[in-house]
Amino acid sequence: MRPISRRHALQLAGLGVLSAAVGGTGIVLSGGSRLDPAVGAQLSEPEALRSEGGVLRLRLEAAEGSLTVAGRRARAYGYNGSLPGPTLRLRPGDRLQVQLVNRLDAPTNLHVHGLYVSPEGKGDNVFVTVQPGETFDYDYRLPDDHPPGVYWYHPHHHGMVADQVFGGLYGAILVEDPQDLPVARERVLVVSDITLDGAGRLQQPSGMDQMMGREGDLVLVNGQVRPSLTARPGERERWRIVNACAARYVRLRLDGQRMDLLGIDSGRYPEPRSVEEVVLATGNRADVLVTTTEGSSALEVLGVDRGGMGAMGGMMGGSFSGDVGTVATLEVTGGSVTAAAPIPPRPEPRDLRGVEPAGRRRLVFAMGMGGGIGPGGMSFTIDGREFDPDRVDQEVVVGAVEEWTIGNTSPMGHPMHLHVWPMQIVAEDGRPVDDVRWQDVVNVPAGGEVTVRISFDRFGGRTVYHCHILDHEDRGMMGVVEAR
Ligand code: C2O
Ligand code: CU
Ligand code: CU
Repeated sequence: MRPISRRHALQLAGLGVLSAAVGGTGIVLSGGSRLDPAVGAQLSEPEALRSEGGVLRLRLEAAEGSLTVAGRRARAYGYNGSLPGPTLRLRPGDRLQVQLVNRLDAPTNLHVHGLYVSPEGKGDNVFVTVQPGETFDYDYRLPDDHPPGVYWYHPHHHGMVADQVFGGLYGAILVEDPQDLPVARERVLVVSDITLDGAGRLQQPSGMDQMMGREGDLVLVNGQVRPSLTARPGERERWRIVNACAARYVRLRLDGQRMDLLGIDSGRYPEPRSVEEVVLATGNRADVLVTTTEGSSALEVLGVDRGGMGAMGGMMGGSFSGDVGTVATLEVTGGSVTAAAPIPPRPEPRDLRGVEPAGRRRLVFAMGMGGGIGPGGMSFTIDGREFDPDRVDQEVVVGAVEEWTIGNTSPMGHPMHLHVWPMQIVAEDGRPVDDVRWQDVVNVPAGGEVTVRISFDRFGGRTVYHCHILDHEDRGMMGVVEAR
């Protein structure tokens, strides 16, 4: 029998022939009604909170409740009653104080993804547990030389991360540039996905969804389905894009408009790069300039092959973040404006390719048949082990530059994420890269390997590295690094 891929199954579901088509394949989709989204409203942006006098202090309440999702009332998770949560706008040198209040019925905590801050104590400490009804006061101090860019926050309590992020707990963090760039406007676009039933309730993922990494039926931009944006011809906008999906990779296109990429994650190019599309693995962010031309353009999310499952995939369905199509529309009309001032050049980024690493390590991401029957029994390991918060897997010296080669023996890509210290990609499958690329989430393709260099500067303490397909992280594809 010919196996049905996830993409195929979704297409079939759209045609209403799913129940007939899945018979005997072992794929069980819950079927039934799905939320009917309201489409096309003006883009709304999460509330922006700015630091004042070097401090941003806020209360962040994580709760399940009745929220607006896709223009409907839904029962999902949110921070301060909204999905996404508020956008936090900070400057290098700021102090960020967050009182996290847990109104969920499960433990949670808070992670500031990509921020270059201490992982200890009340800092970006993922070993903290905040029980239901409890609060925790985080206190993060950004160094004066913190890189400007797009970051984000989300829960990081091991075992609950995929459920809580997929349910709606995420928000953007922006660290401002020393000087504002000459743009007509800035927009924050948080891309996420979710699956809601006809009554607007969160759908539970199947064991299969969890093995592949769950992808939602609805792809949202700031919690909306296909919102519309308007601009005048010739305007330059700055789009801060976060891929907050629990597992989905997105390939973004904006045909008919000019896109220049300032950088991915905290990485910055000396000059903006003209691009046709931007591919973001789960957890990655993009900082993009859009220069408009009259007409109507679609922001599209196109498919990314996350690495098929080989023979195993035949039985279990493919691993493909499918074509979603239009996720927002940009309407450019009216009188044209005069061209904005040129973007000032940035300082050359640091390049560790000329540095002799103090240490070299090899890490291997793998999947195997663990205990139990069916997809639920699949194990997700790094170096043959599942996550243990009480074990230190990598000990590094504060200030050392190391080279890590991350291998992937599994038939599926794993986006590797390291907390605190960004990674410079220096080789892919042994081939040196010829530009300077700093990211904090690096996709390691199925059967491939990526070599990165890391400068373990400034901060001591214990933190983690893991697969950012959050179901894999929750199932153990995470390790502990300690810098001292
Ligand atoms: Cu975005 Cu360890 O997480
Ligand atoms: Cu992170
Ligand atoms: Cu993974």
